[in-house]
Amino acid sequence: MSAGFRIKKFAAYLWEAKTKYYLHSPFVYNFFLHVLEAQTDENLQVIIQLRNQLRNDFSKIHLTDFGTGTSRTTTISHLEKHIALPHKYGRLLYALVKYLKPKNILEIGTSIGISSAYMALGNEQAQVTTLEGCPSLAKAAEQNHKTLNIHRVKVVEGEFSKTLNTALTEMPTVDLVLFDGNHTQQATLAYFQACLPYVSENTVFVFDDIYWNSEMCKAWNTIKQHPTVTLTIDVYRFGICFFRKEKLAKEDFVLRY
Ligand SMILES: C[S@@+](CC[C@H](N)C(=O)[O-])C[C@H]1O[C@@H](n2cnc3c(N)ncnc32)[C@H](O)[C@@H]1O
Repeated sequence: MSAGFRIKKFAAYLWEAKTKYYLHSPFVYNFFLHVLEAQTDENLQVIIQLRNQLRNDFSKIHLTDFGTGTSRTTTISHLEKHIALPHKYGRLLYALVKYLKPKNILEIGTSIGISSAYMALGNEQAQVTTLEGCPSLAKAAEQNHKTLNIHRVKVVEGEFSKTLNTALTEMPTVDLVLFDGNHTQQATLAYFQACLPYVSENTVFVFDDIYWNSEMCKAWNTIKQHPTVTLTIDVYRFGICFFRKEKLAKEDFVLRY
């Protein structure tokens, strides 16, 4: 998909996105203050340091591509720069976890373990399960969590089709899910459907790259319209879904971030 597609979508987002001064919903206003306006705090310094080291690590790593089954080689530096979430969105995840305090977190798509580290740092009580199919990435993620002294992240290695359902059944509650594994419409909707039976009123789903391509846009529109989703927040890169029952009418917000 062309960069032109994403530029057009970004321009449309900027046009539509609201600041906190236009928000009447107390829940969304508080979300804006505590999550979107949260600054980088001292807890995140360790991850910033690690990211700087990884960015300068040009050692090679062998990857298994799940679309084609082929393997290729890249560098740790490339994965940190281009595959892991940018710090801005890692900080958002950290602030979200710090604010809502989900106890059991699931991530679909680990890579080298950067986003799972932000989430684990957000709540000392949280258990994070993260799924990764590529053995060398799963190993690198475990190493990075060890470096950060984070021992509450379980990296589950294997194809999502084999690991997702088991991971869901083994979690005591499913409080937050980050969908960051396979940016196709079919896969995104399949993972969404697989997670839905585990949703409670306090569950939050975060979808990464909702404007990555037209398929992801379609998937996001379908998710927004699902009857169990009562509130959505679009911050351009992330689409965030809530299932809160006290909401009388479904609302979709586009917020400036
Ligand atoms: C975008 S990366 C995750 C980035 C990570 N969340 C972060 O920000 O640090 C997606 C990961 O999902 C893995 N993946 C994609 N499709 C998969 C599948 N069907 N089964 C298992 N792993 C898969 C890829 O190997 C890749 O490492």
